[in-house]
Amino acid sequence: MFNKNTITRFEQLETPFYYYDLNVLSKTLEACRTASSKYGFHVHYAMKANFNPKVLDTIQSYGFGADCVSGNEVKAAVEHGFGKEKIVFAGVGKSDKEINAALDADIFCFNAESVQELFIINDLAKAKNKKAGIAIRINPNVDAHTHHFITTGLEENKFGINSWQLPDVAEALRKCPNLQFLGIHFHIGSQITDMEVYKSLCTRINEMQDWFVDHGFEVKILNTGGGLGVDYHNPDTNSISDFESYFKVFSNFLNVKPGQEVHFELGRALVAQCSALISRVLYVKNGLKKNFLILDAGMTELIRPMLYQAYHQIENLSRESGSNEPEKPAVHYDIVGPICESTDCFQKDVELQQSFRGDLIAVRTAGAYGEVMASGYNLRDRVGSVYSNPVL
Ligand code: LLP
Repeated sequence: MFNKNTITRFEQLETPFYYYDLNVLSKTLEACRTASSKYGFHVHYAMKANFNPKVLDTIQSYGFGADCVSGNEVKAAVEHGFGKEKIVFAGVGKSDKEINAALDADIFCFNAESVQELFIINDLAKAKNKKAGIAIRINPNVDAHTHHFITTGLEENKFGINSWQLPDVAEALRKCPNLQFLGIHFHIGSQITDMEVYKSLCTRINEMQDWFVDHGFEVKILNTGGGLGVDYHNPDTNSISDFESYFKVFSNFLNVKPGQEVHFELGRALVAQCSALISRVLYVKNGLKKNFLILDAGMTELIRPMLYQAYHQIENLSRESGSNEPEKPAVHYDIVGPICESTDCFQKDVELQQSFRGDLIAVRTAGAYGEVMASGYNLRDRVGSVYSNPVL
């Protein structure tokens, strides 16, 4: 991701910033498109992972649809050229204002998460004399075996409709003439690397599909959600997720009927590896027990390590082999940010070459749930983005 020229360029720039390598992004998108199109699968990009404008333009140019979770994301999808027939609106708490805006934009489908929501969408669609496309998000009660903060498909989670509520869903759909039932939707969690989990999901989707067919509904769409994980430990050597194996599981185990469409909502796997948070060492604090590298970026720019104890590889770009400096002995550092919170720590006990004030530090794999989860805590400035090459 970084060569000597990139690092020389960074030296001229104010930090912190998100660096986007658009070549990595393009290669990832290409790999996903190739693997999914083998089976005629449709991929909607889960925009919540990253809505940087250049990232959105690039993803749109590869023909992906957009999976949105707010009225503003729907608006952004339209503005960035995603066709309305490829825009899906999901989310457990859609407001009337957001539903109305999505109806006005004539999006393809709402992923509905409760029986009450079905009646609300129906009423709002009726007032506009429209029919809203609907997929029912079902909570499949499948354990994604990922961090419990990013598990969504268990009955204890707030998402989706439990299978024992399906009779109420069927009744609601029959009572709501302004809804057009399109299919069923699932999402069991994020950063999933165990393909066995997706096999279990396929089994549940097949059962749920049978339920709808048995109750007289035509299921046009099977939406399996997202969740495919990335390798946070090897951002260079393993920068592209195993799309081949992922889509193959669904091709092998999902009961797809003729004419039916299979949809996916990938976020992280498309964008995580294309970005790094670039920061500078402000201070080096050597203690008796601990050495600290205090960076000019913190939890306000990348909160994942603090929120989910997530691992992100950290590199000192100014001292990496290849720099002109003679190698200094390795030191263990706690790498921390400037925010007034003890949890503002990217990683403890990292072995790096001896580091100095002004050194450039890269926190890798920051493309998914990085910039989008930034905050202005401590009245910090929102930081900008730098791109690898001339962009679209
Ligand atoms: N579809 C639905 C309904 C979702 O809730 C999500 C993510 C996705 C698709 C995309 O999932 P992905 O392919 O990116 O795993 N902030 C957390 C992740 C939260 C994921 C929320 N839902 C993190 O930084 O790990």
